[in-house]
Amino acid sequence: MRPFLIVFCAGVALAAAACRDGAKATDHSGGEKKWKHYWARVEDPARDREPTTRDVMAAVDAKPGMRVADVGAGGGYFTFKVAPLVGASGRVVATDMDADMIAHLKREAAKRAMPQVEARLIDPSDHQLEHGAYDVILAVNVYLFWKEVPELSRAVLVQFRRALKKGGRIVIQQDNVYTGKSRKKEQCFSGACQSLTGEETAALARSLGYQVARLSPVTKELGEGHGPGYLLVLTTGP
Ligand SMILES: C[S@@+](CC[C@H](N)C(=O)[O-])C[C@H]1O[C@@H](n2cnc3c(N)ncnc32)[C@H](O)[C@@H]1O
Repeated sequence: MRPFLIVFCAGVALAAAACRDGAKATDHSGGEKKWKHYWARVEDPARDREPTTRDVMAAVDAKPGMRVADVGAGGGYFTFKVAPLVGASGRVVATDMDADMIAHLKREAAKRAMPQVEARLIDPSDHQLEHGAYDVILAVNVYLFWKEVPELSRAVLVQFRRALKKGGRIVIQQDNVYTGKSRKKEQCFSGACQSLTGEETAALARSLGYQVARLSPVTKELGEGHGPGYLLVLTTGP
């Protein structure tokens, strides 16, 4: 069996919801390898049943010909749900800072004969999204916004804004945020360990000229160092 297809369920809340139905939860702290295997799953019946998946897909509202960026795409759970909907005339640009995930995305796109999927390895300081090119920018559980590095959070939203087409939108979904109480390596990024909450992210976005089309709480089981997640939809206004 190919390693990426091995089913791993992580014990932390990041994966808890996906593990709830069926498979036995095991300790996520087993390391980077298990974490990657979990997020590299393209098909996941448990995740398919999650209301958050339905909400994300409704917010993306993919239509033929649309150009969508799936930032922090992981193994492509959402990439390969959106790609058939945008069709051959559309495009899904799936980015990640992890080379293994990009290799996996490329393999899956070829295996599924989906040339509309393009996988891009990016550096988090530059998301490499063309200007004025995207109908939707999607980021699910990517943890892009951090209290300790406001300039980084701001830069992400500025880059995303530039990348949107007129009338485009950003869909951000977090199962949880990091409170900074646990300082586990996997809950930190560039020395920052405290995520912005949904409200704080929305406030930052407003200060940069976005309009908040939707901000709703996500209620999922929370693990150590986790605060409640959110679904945030941003537009650039009329
Ligand atoms: C928890 S996984 C979620 C993957 C996918 N969005 C999903 O819902 O299945 C987070 C992914 O985001 C990537 N990532 C984390 N921070 C990132 C950043 N600042 N820029 C790009 N990718 C990032 C990680 O490498 C990982 O593959």
